[in-house]
Amino acid sequence: MTDTVNELERYLQTTPKSKDLWEEAKRYLPGGDSRNSIFWAPYPIFVDSAQGCHVIDSDGTDRLDFIGTMTSLILGHGPKSVVDAVGNQMGQGVVYNAPNPHQIRLAKLLCERIPSFDLVRFTNSGTEATLNTIRAARAATGKSKIAKVEGGYHGSHDQVSVSVRVNPAKAGERSHPDALAATEGLGEGTLSQVVVVPFNETEIARQTLEENKDQLAAVIIEPMLGSVGMLPATTEFLSMLRDFTTDNGIVLIFDEVISYRASYGGAQEYYGITPDMTSLGKIIGGGFSIGAFGGRKDIMDLYDPTAQGGPRVAHAGTFNANPVTMLAGSVTLDELTPEVYRKLAEMTDYLKAEILKVGAELEIPVQVTGLGSLFGIHFTSDELVGYRDIAAEDAAFRHQVFLGLMNEGILMASNLVGAVSTEIGKGEVDTFAAALRRVLERALAPA
Ligand SMILES: Cc1ncc(COP(=O)(O)O)c(C=O)c1O
Repeated sequence: MTDTVNELERYLQTTPKSKDLWEEAKRYLPGGDSRNSIFWAPYPIFVDSAQGCHVIDSDGTDRLDFIGTMTSLILGHGPKSVVDAVGNQMGQGVVYNAPNPHQIRLAKLLCERIPSFDLVRFTNSGTEATLNTIRAARAATGKSKIAKVEGGYHGSHDQVSVSVRVNPAKAGERSHPDALAATEGLGEGTLSQVVVVPFNETEIARQTLEENKDQLAAVIIEPMLGSVGMLPATTEFLSMLRDFTTDNGIVLIFDEVISYRASYGGAQEYYGITPDMTSLGKIIGGGFSIGAFGGRKDIMDLYDPTAQGGPRVAHAGTFNANPVTMLAGSVTLDELTPEVYRKLAEMTDYLKAEILKVGAELEIPVQVTGLGSLFGIHFTSDELVGYRDIAAEDAAFRHQVFLGLMNEGILMASNLVGAVSTEIGKGEVDTFAAALRRVLERALAPA
């Protein structure tokens, strides 16, 4: 099932302008872009415009967008409410050297929705948000180490660039993963600060945490492994983490940069488990760069510049809480009522069912994971428990399917994770299922 050649040929034939742009880009940008997470072989498409659930590339090909900029665009591209509000705000200034009222509104909306938020602060990215949750946890506990799960992605700062998409053959035992650098260039000692535990293996993870409890400031976890495969945690695993951290004076951080699509109050509401701190990003910026971190008042108060002696934790950022992003975010959240969340989840359930139906009819093993409007496609009948199960999937076949879907006019993330926006209806889902069927039929056809 790895006849990638035909899909590749078709991709090359239909994307010549993207190829030319990529060649030109490489003269000035290493690898031709500024974001490695959206590179795929042989080269990515370059996009000229997007509207609703459609993305038009430089060769004029129109594709249905089933990823929405790595899950960020929950209302699709260019929703009128956001475009109008932002256009109006641009005429009144883009960023000021003083606070603006729009951030109060977005902060209020988030504090009302996210169970763990007593107080919140804004950043420009999810990376800065997770950095701050960890720094705050260290300041609050006076301890330094953090624990994370293997396969968990929390952005690109040093402390979380550990054991993300590791090669299992080099990562030690499944039950006791080694802390491995996800990049070169980490500061000396970074790895020694991170305890890595397997996702969803409750008792084994608890034992490792127990051995390190006196040094741990925080446990950080995506309630659902997001960009790595949309694999939800079990309630049992998250409950163990909640109890363990409470019992040992450790800060529990939920990284909900992606999983805030799980429900109106995030995955923490979905599971009924409230962490001490939470990081957010993506959808809450209405398409503009954003991150947010918030949680328990006693921890967030460490940032208060009016405290006696000044803030205990420093926090700056020229574009933090700029009025354009704050307005775009609050207009987006206004549209995201519980009813809209419910409809998005229903449409995604329909999509999942259609994908399973295609797999069953063609007798290809397939599983579709995800919560709310998020989904991940996995071509295996093996049980998916944690990162190692995802890493064991057939990468060549997955790439063939990804390129095939591109050829059929469907844009997903290259590892076959996706997100449904309010612009996607039954018609688009049926188009997706028909496209997937053709791709899989080609894959099954004798070479
Ligand atoms: C769970 C999670 N945390 C943090 C981040 C980092 O966010 P950003 O790319 O905005 O820095 C991401 C990005 O994909 C993410 O998926």
